[in-house]
Amino acid sequence: MFSKSEITDILKTDERNEEIFFLADETRKKYVGDEIHLRGLIEFSNICKCSCKYCGLQATNKNIERYRISVEEVISIAKSASQTGYKTIVLQSGEDGFYTKEIICKIIEEIKKLDVAITLSIGERSYEELKAFKDSGADRYLIRIETTDKNLYKKLHPNMSFENRIECLKNLKKLGYEVGTGCLVGLPYQTIESLADDILFFKEIDADMVGIGPFIPHPNTCLKDEKQGSFLLALKVMALTRIMLKDINIPATTAMETINPNGRIIALQKGANVVMPNLTTSEYQKKYEIYPNKAKINKNLNKYSDKMHLIGRTISSGYGFRDKKKPQ
Ligand code: 5AD
Repeated sequence: MFSKSEITDILKTDERNEEIFFLADETRKKYVGDEIHLRGLIEFSNICKCSCKYCGLQATNKNIERYRISVEEVISIAKSASQTGYKTIVLQSGEDGFYTKEIICKIIEEIKKLDVAITLSIGERSYEELKAFKDSGADRYLIRIETTDKNLYKKLHPNMSFENRIECLKNLKKLGYEVGTGCLVGLPYQTIESLADDILFFKEIDADMVGIGPFIPHPNTCLKDEKQGSFLLALKVMALTRIMLKDINIPATTAMETINPNGRIIALQKGANVVMPNLTTSEYQKKYEIYPNKAKINKNLNKYSDKMHLIGRTISSGYGFRDKKKPQ
């Protein structure tokens, strides 16, 4: 286990990269094995009331065509996904108030009939709403802290509250969700020390899943001229997260694949054990532009399986819950 100053040192130089990448892969193998869990992602609405400065879906971006996928269509995408073997459906959207507690609960109840696990990624919601979603059958919830640097968080998230976000994560834990969080790497004004704090934060809240991706500037945002996050640094934050949290689920994120043509495979060999193929129909996928040129992942499970075999891995046929009972 590394201290904050050790993590900072590792992130600041490249001297120990090979050592930590090797250790991350060993830890992944020992604690979560060679199976890769696929999570089928449905991006059902790109309407968002927030204005996170890095995000292309921000309310202030007038240059995108907004959409909502109907409840029936969401359920039908989930149905065909479960028929082709997906065991987890991830429902993601902007923070869109149109989808009331009742509507989300209805979607959850219908999709649960398909014998799949459900992950929600729909932003901050009240305790009462989160409880209703859980009672309807939701299993997991993703909400990245984005950065644990409070001042930076404030700068990047106008009219949002760092404390609310933490509260939301705590509520999710209390309600028995598997909780996913994560951060962006390479945000303007982000320090290496704060990335070390991010990793320690994941450990402190006992996150069950952690998604890490490089910041990619979006042309329709005020951060358009900022530098893109480094692939190598994002990879190192991810590898250290695996070493520190051991038995959790870690996706090879789409942002990694977007800035490196082999990013997903590299991430899977340095700590990651989850992939999230996008099941959204292409007409909508184009409009769900959080950042530009989002990489596409083949949603065909058989083709995927062949690719994974090449790196000695198999596709899991289980739900892929975190198994905390693995050796310590
Ligand atoms: N570059 C990379 N990742 C981004 N996200 C939002 N905007 C960007 C960007 N410009 C990430 C956030 C959010 C997730 C859904 O997408 O971390 O939590």
